[in-house]
Amino acid sequence: MRLHPHALRRTALGLAATGALLIGLATPSALAQAADPVLRDLAEAKGKYYGTAVTASKLTGTYADIAGSQFNSITPGNEMKWESVEPSRGTYNWSGADRIVDFAEAHDMEVRGHTLVWHSQLPGWLTNGSWTADQLRTLMTDHITAEAGRYKGRISHWDVVNEPFNEDGTFRQSLFHSKLGPSYIADALRAARAADPDAKLYLNDYNTDGLGAKSDGMYNLVKSLKAQGVPIDGVGFQGHLILGQVPSTMKANLQRFADLGVDVAVTELDIRMTLPATDAKLAQQKADYRAVTDACVAVSRCKGVTAWGFTDSDSWIPDVFEGQGAATPYDENYRPKPAYYGIAESLGWTGGGDPGPTGSCTVGYTVTSQWNTGFTANVTVKNTGSSPVGGWQVAWTYPSGQRVTSAWNATVTQSGAQVTAANAAYNGTIGAGGSVSFGFNGTWSGANTAPATFTCTTR
Ligand code: XIL
Repeated sequence: MRLHPHALRRTALGLAATGALLIGLATPSALAQAADPVLRDLAEAKGKYYGTAVTASKLTGTYADIAGSQFNSITPGNEMKWESVEPSRGTYNWSGADRIVDFAEAHDMEVRGHTLVWHSQLPGWLTNGSWTADQLRTLMTDHITAEAGRYKGRISHWDVVNEPFNEDGTFRQSLFHSKLGPSYIADALRAARAADPDAKLYLNDYNTDGLGAKSDGMYNLVKSLKAQGVPIDGVGFQGHLILGQVPSTMKANLQRFADLGVDVAVTELDIRMTLPATDAKLAQQKADYRAVTDACVAVSRCKGVTAWGFTDSDSWIPDVFEGQGAATPYDENYRPKPAYYGIAESLGWTGGGDPGPTGSCTVGYTVTSQWNTGFTANVTVKNTGSSPVGGWQVAWTYPSGQRVTSAWNATVTQSGAQVTAANAAYNGTIGAGGSVSFGFNGTWSGANTAPATFTCTTR
């Protein structure tokens, strides 16, 4: 335990809570407010950690302040991958990895080592070489010995093997599997145990978050490794999720692994949405972050959750999923998003909910004409606040299967029964007490019952 930095951090926050420190901060408006929750403290009170992936080169200024004060576990986003640490054979570069481990120790954080054996981000000399099975096995175990050995005693959890499965639960034909067969996994775990006996050794994969064929593959593997006495301590569920699609079976899935006698963790959580982010999407994302955190809180062997980047300015999503983003708990300017408060609430924060959007508005909904299977509706948005607003958004749920087909004077999207309408470029501004209207055509059958309630938000 390194008590000093943590104690200092607490003192600083204690002062901030009195308001005394805020004056000294360079850009207080870009930071969490003093009354905001501290995720690492909330998690610790539940016996868990809350972690983040980071980029070593960014660990200064506000980025470092938030990483070190809000999170008590850290994962290198790329710095411990084979191509990063051994770009040419026998030439090691530990600078990024060292920087992150040093940062973690200075801020009393645990480190999740990521990752020793993976099919991706391997150095060219390794993937382009032609190796016998024995040579490749030795290269793999030597790599594990070198890396896990270097950080011996300083890493709490190692993702020893990453992404070993195909979507159908069969083994991925990685470099390692195709040459060595499935025994590479047990060999990797044994080498990691020998190199760092105190680190908890994990297998890690994506799309294994809920029950399904792929998580069945992982389940059967873990069961058989345990039966053979292979050192395996935990399973990581990456949690690269899509807005509104947290698997409903996540808790049950984590629990069934725990029941096998291993720890579990959510290791790379992000929840992506189609850009642009809207208030309604951010509210859904809050519920999603909360649901994932709830699943971990509900399973006693779930050690913690790691966000795959804490800020939208440091997320891999926009580079890899076209048109998607806004996947993390803080926006690009380091402001906490609703998702951050969702995490805090799941961890027991009772600070009164997130500040949410400002302003208030009401909605009027009228079906202006209706025919055999179609209808036209008019919606009025009234700014009931005492100052003008610069944008608005209305959402409702259709009770009887109606579908919006085309809209005017608003951008209307529908997902299942859920409809979201946001202002057009030209009618976002509504003066105090003023109103704007938009309309749309839709289809109905059976009944065209009006929605019972509307949510209306302004900014
Ligand atoms: C990602 C990094 O975030 C990116 O910067 C990099 O370009 C590609 O890899 N599953 C994993 C992580 O286990 O290592 C990946 O990280 C994201 C998917």
